[in-house]
Amino acid sequence: MGSRTRLVGGIAVATLALGALGAAGAVAAPGKPGESRYTSGSSGVGDAYFPYAGNGGYDVQHYDLDLTYTPPGPDPAPLVGEFEGVATIDLVATQDLDRFNLDLRGMDVHALSVNGKPAASVAPPLAGAEVDGAAYWHVQDDAARVWELTVQPRPKLKAGQQVQVVVEYGGTTTRPRDIEGALYGWVTQRDGAMVVSEPEGSMTWYPVSDHQTDKATYSFEITVPEGKVAVANGIQPKPEETADGWTTWYWDAPDQQASYLTTASVGDFDLRDAYTSGSGVPIIDAVDTKLTATRLATTNASLGWQVDMIDFFESKFGPYPFVAYGSIVDNDSVGYALETQTRPVYSTQASEGTVAHEAAHQWFGNAVSPERWQDIWLNEGWATYATWMWNEEQGRNTAQTTYDNWYAPARTQAYWDLQIGDPGELGLFLTQVYNRGAATLHALRLDVGDDAFFEAAQLWVERYDDSAGTSEDFQAIYEEVSGEDLDDFFQVWLYDQQKPPATWTTP
Ligand code: ARG
Ligand code: ZN
Repeated sequence: MGSRTRLVGGIAVATLALGALGAAGAVAAPGKPGESRYTSGSSGVGDAYFPYAGNGGYDVQHYDLDLTYTPPGPDPAPLVGEFEGVATIDLVATQDLDRFNLDLRGMDVHALSVNGKPAASVAPPLAGAEVDGAAYWHVQDDAARVWELTVQPRPKLKAGQQVQVVVEYGGTTTRPRDIEGALYGWVTQRDGAMVVSEPEGSMTWYPVSDHQTDKATYSFEITVPEGKVAVANGIQPKPEETADGWTTWYWDAPDQQASYLTTASVGDFDLRDAYTSGSGVPIIDAVDTKLTATRLATTNASLGWQVDMIDFFESKFGPYPFVAYGSIVDNDSVGYALETQTRPVYSTQASEGTVAHEAAHQWFGNAVSPERWQDIWLNEGWATYATWMWNEEQGRNTAQTTYDNWYAPARTQAYWDLQIGDPGELGLFLTQVYNRGAATLHALRLDVGDDAFFEAAQLWVERYDDSAGTSEDFQAIYEEVSGEDLDDFFQVWLYDQQKPPATWTTP
């Protein structure tokens, strides 16, 4: 699902045999007379920041992930886990396909079939070379950050055809890093794994079209050594089952979900599932049993606010968008939290501000995702602004005071140089994206007025729910609701490399 995928041309191509990959960003062209109408699905969806993230030529409906994982255990065992997976992927071809790609990093494929027909493992062919029969090949170029599993199904696939791909894969899990060097993906911990995959780290643990423009539903069956708890997105459709020293945990995520918001964290968790939000959203938390007493106290107090936060954000942003909520708090070494859908993950402890931030992401980022990674301010600006609102609600600083405190101090030119509307792939999580992003929303609120501001926020979530939108789409909604021309406003706040004026009134 997530049919708003746009193909953008002009994608940089790494120094690899292109034919082995399928052209990044290539748009399917109908064959010339005499040529095959079956073409290769592109090896990226055309995101300028991550040209090889996601894939073209099909639309994933559902991922069923059957995972078996053995954590490393205590020192002096090497810090690696043993992982075996079977991914069953339901997709619909959107063009006549000779080949298509999945993203998969750091794992070996043992077997692969399409609609029940096994494909043979072959070496990546040279550009333009033919390959006989049903086959797959896997290009993994860590230096170029290109990880592409190409599938050549036989018979070929027709546009509109329903397809089931089964990939048996696995290997030794490590501690992958994103483009800026932060840990992400399946991050092996001594006691399990903390799984946080923004922006394109899901490919470190399952074969995927790893971009938010292709959302899908998920189900999980995760088998771990008895005593370990595996927690993924959504709800538990049935209780865990234990046999022969292994426990299998079942999770279902029936809402449309972006790949980077998928988790399947494993650890020594205390699972708590006894409560709901005011509007009846079931809340399931998993808290590491090894948190220090101080961190456990902070975590418990902060998670205790989740019910009120959901109630408060529903009153401002509209109904909570998913079937469940809750948190995973891991005693780990990753160092940041992630708003994984229905179940954010926190590192070492959950604090009130971060819990508010990740809760707000369920509307801003998760229900509506950034169509391009350059639109990240729509995630982080909103989640930050929501905590300003939460603080005001709790009788602390008003949003206006927080804005004034952001505005007042002199800042370096480097701070203003970052264009939050296009921060670059190394700038996704810089403080400006968060704070100037939140200030942008406050300035917008002052400009259009409270009524239009919240009406447009709700319309944004409603109209782009289960999908993704750009900054331009966002501006269009605010123009529609306010009747104002907001070109200047968004130019100044998202792109101008200087401090915006203290007050703003669109004429
Ligand atoms: N989206 C996460 C949050 O705001 C932050 C992710 C940070 N990731 C990173 N690689 N630094 O909660
Ligand atoms: Zn955030």
